[in-house]
Amino acid sequence: MSKPLVIFGSAEMAELAKFYFEHDSSRKVVAFTVDDAYVKEDQFQGLPLVPFSEVARRYPADAYDMHVALSYAKLNRLRQEKYEQAKAAGYTLASYVCSKSATWPDLAIGDNCFILENQTIQPTVRIGNNVMIWSGNHLGHGTEIGDHTYIASHVVISGHCKIGQRNFFGVNSTLRDFCNIGDDCFIAMGASVARDMPSGSVALAPQAEVYEADDRRAKALKRMYFKI
Ligand SMILES: CC(C)(COP(=O)(O)OP(=O)(O)OC[C@H]1O[C@@H](n2cnc3c(N)ncnc32)[C@H](O)[C@@H]1OP(=O)(O)O)[C@@H](O)C(=O)NCCC(=O)NCCS
Repeated sequence: MSKPLVIFGSAEMAELAKFYFEHDSSRKVVAFTVDDAYVKEDQFQGLPLVPFSEVARRYPADAYDMHVALSYAKLNRLRQEKYEQAKAAGYTLASYVCSKSATWPDLAIGDNCFILENQTIQPTVRIGNNVMIWSGNHLGHGTEIGDHTYIASHVVISGHCKIGQRNFFGVNSTLRDFCNIGDDCFIAMGASVARDMPSGSVALAPQAEVYEADDRRAKALKRMYFKI
């Protein structure tokens, strides 16, 4: 039987983590915690919100596990920092993998991961610690995802890629097979990357042109396609 869970966070990510753990795992969420300076109320989502300095006394690590549920702020550094803080306090950090995802029994996955619906995670994929994978992505066989990385939605990471730490993959980005991505990279939405990326680099894709209603091109295109 899994231990009950304390969630680190008191914002939307924490609310979502509670939802997913409660609807699709054997975990019971019993409380939230944040750093003392961020405690504005004594409850969040109907459960106790406990200052971090008190959490070990009220929810000791031998009886409760923790899950750190924060956003990718500061290119995942905040998530990494709080993950390390919770680990240093002695907690086992629970991972969540949505039952509506396709995975295989050989999946190697670290702690504090948060993996949502409709992934295709092929055999021999390895996922590090504290990795967030939002909905609907493809992770090809042989690929390795480094710690604290965030993958948005509808991202294709082809086979045998090696991804470092704290990277951010925006929606609809694509990585060719056998690419090596360093640490702290920002692959923006729609970027199609076919080469290695050294640490700290950014990949940007062209964005769609948007013509407003009174623009000559907007009017001509709508006339041509929709007869309006
Ligand atoms: C790259 C990204 C941040 C740009 O955002 P944006 O709102 O379009 O930002 P802006 O239009 O204000 O552009 C910011 C700067 O980047 C530049 N830029 C944006 N897209 C660019 C592109 N494709 N090529 C070159 N420069 C670009 C802009 O010119 C601008 O520079 P400037 O300030 O010197 O003019 C955005 O496209 C992106 O990928 N966001 C991630 C979205 C995502 O995946 N979210 C998932 C959350 S779960």
